[in-house]
Amino acid sequence: MSTRMSFQVALNFEDGITRFIECRPDETVAEASYKARINIPLDCRDGACGTCKSLCESGSYDGGDYIEEALSDDEATSGYCLPCQMTPQSDLVLRIPSSSLAAKTGAAAHTATVAGIKQHSATTVEFTLDVDERDALDFLPGQYVNIVVPGTDQTRSYSFSSGPDQRQICFLMRIVPGGAMSGYLTERARVGDRLEFTGPMGSFYLRELTRPALLLAGGTGLAPLLSMLERMTQQPPAHPVHLLYGVTTDQDLVHLDTLEDYAEVIPGLTFDHCVADPSSTARNKGFVTGLMDTDTLHEGEVDVYLCGPPAMVEAVRGHIASLGVTPASFHYEKFTPAAVRQTAEAA
Ligand code: FES
Repeated sequence: MSTRMSFQVALNFEDGITRFIECRPDETVAEASYKARINIPLDCRDGACGTCKSLCESGSYDGGDYIEEALSDDEATSGYCLPCQMTPQSDLVLRIPSSSLAAKTGAAAHTATVAGIKQHSATTVEFTLDVDERDALDFLPGQYVNIVVPGTDQTRSYSFSSGPDQRQICFLMRIVPGGAMSGYLTERARVGDRLEFTGPMGSFYLRELTRPALLLAGGTGLAPLLSMLERMTQQPPAHPVHLLYGVTTDQDLVHLDTLEDYAEVIPGLTFDHCVADPSSTARNKGFVTGLMDTDTLHEGEVDVYLCGPPAMVEAVRGHIASLGVTPASFHYEKFTPAAVRQTAEAA
């Protein structure tokens, strides 16, 4: 039994906004939410109506007292829970059946200073921020924030490439000619510049790994997977993890050395990469689908995490279907050059 005074509970709302609250082991998640001024759906508060029913995606808890009409045994076995009754026994990740707006909350706002800008190549730039109140920023590995492009009224979405416990936060960006953030980062940005962003957001985050995992990245879609790998250095997976990284040209390839470093320290992690450009010097030319067979997919006993452009997401889904395999879970995030995020989960 843990002796921690309180646990961190991530409340993920239907609109992709995530809020984090502290919850003591002797208080219910509903009580802790109320204290944090977050109105998660509640009615009876007594384990009788089922209004608060949520899905626990990670962590352990005492489910409390309730009646079968509020939560059936089958639902409880599938991870559903009643926040008005449950008390945490570890950090938790919960999917709340309402929008953040309905819960009278929203994305948290943060301010930060640019700490570093590194242009990897003509196509890819990485930037690092020092957050003013770093302790007030929690996120799940794989999530993103909306950054206001300095000097404009536009926002762009970027996934953290750093881990939730690293002090500085990092992002990867594909340079898009004429793009608002591209223009800022390649022409005007200076270390010390001030930035504002909101978040975290997104349902593309690492769940508890209870089986092998296949991580697929297209271009700068590598960023959220790097954040997941960073988490795995602290919580080593008990099953094999394979990462496939596909890019268009050799110039797009970044962080191969970082992946090698992770492969040294994360047990069971292997990775490979491919480049679509036929004139590439890479060993594998083509798309990640060319590196995926039924073995890579563990005959379906696998959690798939994919972040890449829409065409890649569709190609991978089609390829998996053509192999006659249905992964145990399939989480993906599509991004476009304007970096509008779409996260989803397919069974
Ligand atoms: Fe009725 Fe939780 S509010 S069961």
